Amino acid sequence: MDIGSVPWLGPLLLVSLWASSAPASLLRRLGEHILRFQESSALGLGLGPDSVTLPKEGWLEQPLDPFNASDRRSFLQRYWVNDQHWTSQDGPVFLHLGGEGSLGPGSVMRGHPANLAPIWGALVISLEHRFYGLSIPAEGLDMAQLRFLSSRHALADAASARLTLSRLFNVSSTSPWICFGGSYAGSLAAWARLKFPHLFFASIASSAPVRATLDFSKYNDVVSRSLMNTAIGGSLECRAAASAAFAEVERRLRASRGARAALSVELGACGSLERAEDQAELLGALQALVGGAVQYDGQAGAPLSVRQLCRFLLGDRGNCRGNGSGPAPYRGLRRAVQVVTHGLGQRCLSISRAETVAQLRVTELQVSSVGDRQWLYQTCTEFGYCE
Ligand SMILES: *[C@@H]1O[C@H](CO)[C@@H](O)[C@H](O)[C@H]1NC(C)=O
Ligand SMILES: *[C@@H]1O[C@H](CO)[C@@H](O)[C@H](O)[C@H]1NC(C)=O
Ligand SMILES: *[C@@H]1O[C@H](CO)[C@@H](O)[C@H](O)[C@H]1NC(C)=O
Repeated sequence: MDIGSVPWLGPLLLVSLWASSAPASLLRRLGEHILRFQESSALGLGLGPDSVTLPKEGWLEQPLDPFNASDRRSFLQRYWVNDQHWTSQDGPVFLHLGGEGSLGPGSVMRGHPANLAPIWGALVISLEHRFYGLSIPAEGLDMAQLRFLSSRHALADAASARLTLSRLFNVSSTSPWICFGGSYAGSLAAWARLKFPHLFFASIASSAPVRATLDFSKYNDVVSRSLMNTAIGGSLECRAAASAAFAEVERRLRASRGARAALSVELGACGSLERAEDQAELLGALQALVGGAVQYDGQAGAPLSVRQLCRFLLGDRGNCRGNGSGPAPYRGLRRAVQVVTHGLGQRCLSISRAETVAQLRVTELQVSSVGDRQWLYQTCTEFGYCE
């Protein structure tokens, strides 16, 4: 199969569609945006003329219900392969497990497993998580289908992919398979090793939450500490300014109808802020904006870094252009919102709970989906990560 140019159209198309797509959680949208950005620039980078066929995309037919042998239904699960460094069939295999999002070719070309591959002569394979990206069963995302979405299903996929791919690539039976994953996929990597020690020699689980917790406010503690971290442009003052900016937004939300109308205009919100649920969406979006600056700090394609956010909040650049009323941290937050909305190619900041819910109800496959419905389902049925 000639995959030289085909895989690149997908990501580019997605980027252009997002601009007009319905709301999605800002943090997830940022993550996808950054991923796409990196992948659309990754192929040109670091690949010699003889590596045009890299990486390879493939599909595995997997049982929809791996726990019921009489259920014959199946779906296609996507994987990517980078065999550039794999010089011997006895070499190790680094299996990069996907999490709650799509996986592109960059998943085997960049990042931890890809970086380690040359040293170990490893074959790098990434496996997209069922129900995300292009590995969604054709029947769609209604509740009857979502029954087949869980970490247990994903682990069964990993085990079966390990066996099939091993045959497909003629991997030596003595080759160690090592799982890699980050965040939720990091948990999967750890569980894969625990559950299938005969299949996976080791796992590298990065930032893996392994203890489920309902109140996930510790995330904010980490964000808060990062805003004070001078190594990335943070400071005590920045942390205080972020607090002040949020306090100011909350004050305006409570103040009066006029203050709320002005707030909506000043933050470039897509609609009015009269409903409590929309106010909550706004605060969630602003929180995601700050969390996103921390979480994706320094990554290519991230619209806002911690250093830049702190500069805005502390009022020493960009704010002269904001030219509005209100204290410096608030004006800085406005500027940060502008930068992020613009960076994501959005007309305005989405704050409508009704639109969010309508979008979450869509069960048909959508090319522009970032997997919000599936991830919300997983957080509600399994994890309770209530960010
Ligand atoms: C297993 O699959 C068969 C065939 O689709 C179905 O009739 C049966 O109800 C399934 N069992 C369970 C426990 O889901
Ligand atoms: C698979 O690998 C073995 C050595 O490990 C080799 O003898 C055999 O020819 C290979 N088969 C294929 C189809 O590549
Ligand atoms: C700021 O506002 C003042 C008066 O409202 C206006 O004269 C000035 O041009 C504005 N500056 C910028 C940079 O928009």
